[in-house]
Amino acid sequence: MTFTNLEPRAAEILQLYEQPKAAMLPMLWLVQEEQGYVSPEAEVWVGEILGVTRSQVREAVSFYNMYHTQPVGRREIRVCTSLPCLLRGSAEVMKQVQERLQVAPGETTPGQEVTLTEVECLCACEMSPMCQLDETFVGPLDEKTLDTVLQAAMADPQESSPLPEPAPFISTDGPVLSTRFGKTEGTWFEDYVEDDGYVAARKVLTSMTPAEVIEEVSSANLRGLGGAGFPAGRKWSFVPTETTKPKFLVVNADEGEPGTFKDRYIMERDPHALLEGMIIASYAIGSHKAYVYIRGEYFRSAKRLQRAVDEAYSQGWLGSNIQGTGFDLDVVIHRGAGAYICGEETALLTSLEGGKGFPRLKPPFPAISGLFQCPTIVNNVETLTCVPFIFRNGAERFVEIGTPKQGGTRLFCVCGHVNQPGVYEEPVSITLKELIEKAGGVRDGRKLKAVIPGGISAKVLTADEVDVAMDFDSLLAAGTMAGSGGVIVMDETTCMVEALDSASKFFAEESCGQCSPCREGTGWVHRILRRILDGRGNLQDLDRLLAIAGDMEGKTICVFADAAAWPVQSYITKFRDEFEEYIRSGASEDKKEQVACQS
Ligand code: FES
Repeated sequence: MTFTNLEPRAAEILQLYEQPKAAMLPMLWLVQEEQGYVSPEAEVWVGEILGVTRSQVREAVSFYNMYHTQPVGRREIRVCTSLPCLLRGSAEVMKQVQERLQVAPGETTPGQEVTLTEVECLCACEMSPMCQLDETFVGPLDEKTLDTVLQAAMADPQESSPLPEPAPFISTDGPVLSTRFGKTEGTWFEDYVEDDGYVAARKVLTSMTPAEVIEEVSSANLRGLGGAGFPAGRKWSFVPTETTKPKFLVVNADEGEPGTFKDRYIMERDPHALLEGMIIASYAIGSHKAYVYIRGEYFRSAKRLQRAVDEAYSQGWLGSNIQGTGFDLDVVIHRGAGAYICGEETALLTSLEGGKGFPRLKPPFPAISGLFQCPTIVNNVETLTCVPFIFRNGAERFVEIGTPKQGGTRLFCVCGHVNQPGVYEEPVSITLKELIEKAGGVRDGRKLKAVIPGGISAKVLTADEVDVAMDFDSLLAAGTMAGSGGVIVMDETTCMVEALDSASKFFAEESCGQCSPCREGTGWVHRILRRILDGRGNLQDLDRLLAIAGDMEGKTICVFADAAAWPVQSYITKFRDEFEEYIRSGASEDKKEQVACQS
């Protein structure tokens, strides 16, 4: 097999990157789109184009779970079984799909028609239980929608009826981030400009110095909204001004934390707001090249963002000499390929350089030595999208909306057992209790049992602990974290053993395997929990799990192992009686029926 027909496109892709190997992921996407999978011949071809060995290509192909090494079906159904989907019935969905297609996960129906894949969170938890048919997210899946999906999967793509559009609650009234979310097809250049779009970037580029920009962002108390909460202005100030090396802005759009789905709405409904924030940030740090690393499963987000980038180039808001100001900026959309760890900033950079997404030791921090060993700022999508508001309305206004140490609002993702899952833009002073009420309260009038306030890695809170503000500092003081803003609500029917098992499955699946405590620890935690669920656990297992979690926390290159340990520690400590009772009663048939993680 030859790939001569792909050479013109391959040449275009190579031009986007400073180093050929960095084009690894887009090149693998290119061959997979052509062949349906990455064949051994394709690995050789990609290696030749990039000037790397075939084993380096193989390493990448095997690391990212969206690349196929064998031919797959004409269509692919990816059913999510992570915790938020599990809470709303994904186990039953998976069972039904298997029965209807007569295949197990990983298998393809006869005639290479449909491949069934079980996946971890696709960050579409507001529509759980959900699945992805090829590029399209569908949910919530009830009998009728599942029927439509399966019929569409089996039909000729030209003839199948359209898939139902999910309609979760999405804030549309701002004040900072969601003002244009009502435009479900996306806000395009003209609409954005009409709504004062690019006014902030013009002001910055024509009347402010980079130092003044950083000062303004610092005084606005803008915190990093990807999870760490580090002050954005301070982070920008770490980039050296006296250096001959190029500097980079990298946007972390690898949204992957189960329970989180906000960045997708920004990229799909208001992509120019993100681009305007990127222009301002790039100017502040002296960067002329920005990459957006977007998770591979977000097909629609990547397309809409690319369309906005094309519009911005054609309108003179990207490229050379932006709006005659003398400032240059190029933006490249770079798609990931299915690896949660790439949401960690150093893993993201390693991945962007074309390797496996392995985190790096810090220091040096990326601001000093990041992408291609050059000064790099990695910021989350939501963080950068707040920036234009600050320059349009002033830092003081942003501060006013927030708390003394965290300005502005947040897009809170609320899912699980609430009546109205969705994205809620609220000031960060809102309490968790109020947020749950905004989401319609606990479903069907049931009692609240537990809440994870900041994505699956955050320590769980009990129903008595929800009177806490949602800003970074208040949640830290409450012994948990604001993390990615993903709130997962569990009602009184939830089995905490099953919930922890689901979280541990996720971490065991997603550990990159670089550090032994994480690779082995996540595997052991999951195996022990499986044993407990099978009725073969013993009471000593609980202390064993806590000991393993203790041996993982703080002992690895990145915080993934800590994030895997925190749920173990908090679930077992706060719900120990339930775990002990579960172990004592074994896995009786009665109990299996009572296990109520499903709706
Ligand atoms: Fe299923 Fe997030 S999309 S858990």
